Amino acid sequence: NKGKYEHYMQKEIHEQPESLKTTMRGRLIRGGSSKAKTVLLGGLKDHLKTIRRSRRIVFIGCGTSYNAALAARPILEELSGIPVTMEIASDLLDRQGPIYREDTAVFVSQSGETADTLLALEYALENGALCVGITNTVGSAIARHTHCGVHINAGCEIGVASTKAYTSQIVVMAMLALAIGGDTLSNQARREAIIDGLFDLPNTVREALKLDQEMKDLAKLLIAEQSLLVFGRGYNYATALEGALKVKEVALMHSEGILAGEMKHGPLALVDENLPIVVIATRDACFSKQQSVIQQLHARKGRLIVMCSKGDAAAVCAGGSGRVIEVPQVEDCLQPVINIIPLQLLAYHLTVLRGFNVDQPRNLAKSVTTQ
Ligand code: UD1
Ligand code: M6R
Repeated sequence: NKGKYEHYMQKEIHEQPESLKTTMRGRLIRGGSSKAKTVLLGGLKDHLKTIRRSRRIVFIGCGTSYNAALAARPILEELSGIPVTMEIASDLLDRQGPIYREDTAVFVSQSGETADTLLALEYALENGALCVGITNTVGSAIARHTHCGVHINAGCEIGVASTKAYTSQIVVMAMLALAIGGDTLSNQARREAIIDGLFDLPNTVREALKLDQEMKDLAKLLIAEQSLLVFGRGYNYATALEGALKVKEVALMHSEGILAGEMKHGPLALVDENLPIVVIATRDACFSKQQSVIQQLHARKGRLIVMCSKGDAAAVCAGGSGRVIEVPQVEDCLQPVINIIPLQLLAYHLTVLRGFNVDQPRNLAKSVTTQ
């Protein structure tokens, strides 16, 4: 039931304040006077010791689920101190890459039925790794075959383009990082800031959704473009990949997410006054590097659309023209949840304006159950 919405994708984008609340329900504890703020993931509590002892955490997924894991990787590395590596499920299988008994392999899948991810799970089980699932579908193959896991509880997602599952996956993996990291005196302030940020997140997402009309106006400007580049780095490299995936998948427009640190190693050659480029430059430790990327793109007359934190329009546009998308600022590791919202809205409006099928893009299936 689409309710007041025209498409499931639109409904699922606008549902995110609620879906995120459900994802966190009963799992975040902001205790009374003596009790510290903490996270409780019922499905993992008996396995946390083993996970903490593992030599490596390997994230495995496809498409949007892979991107969500990529967004959560930095905070998991920071809080756990354990090396985290990334695997696209099909590529792990193609290479028959090494997976060890000392590894924790985390399988991320909305449907829980993706063939490549499921085969990678069988492969990791054979190799003796502890296998953890992060799925939206209770009773799915991945939920059943993993040793333990967390349901993201985002509610049924119908649009082929994954939207609310992406933000819920990131939130679950941020909670996973808090759970694995455990309480130490040195990271207490950081943990509390993240937990406070998680509590506030549904409201901040609601605020970001107010960019709807602005993104519709931007989509009108981009309607006839051939291509859209999205530059990001750090926490928001994943945002660049995921924003580009949405645009290509539903709006049927070529789009590429680019790691900004790689700009001079090739992509800069594409820059001219015609090609639209979204640059994600919200406040975090990479901000000054992104400011310099923006300056270099300006110097080549790039057609920029800069996403920045509220109040930073002047700081990111020094001397340049172009458009700015201002988003609310949250704790750096949660910023990908906010930053993807305008890009989901942009992809949605581009699709409608270009006259394509929003909920069932050509050639794609919601759940890819064949290799
Ligand atoms: C569980 C209940 C929830 C109840 C809550 C109360 C289920 C599905 N969930 O939620 O209804 O309100 O207790 O405490 O009954 N698992 C995997 N692989 C996966 C995902 C999950 O093995 O990919 C396992 C978990 O390890 C766990 C079980 O499935 O044993 C349920 O996981 P989850 O729903 O995340 O647990 P809770 O949040 O505790
Ligand atoms: O169900 P899964 O999360 O395993 O699906 C993985 C991909 O097929 C999926 O995310 C795909 O990329 C989406 N259509 C993206 O919107």
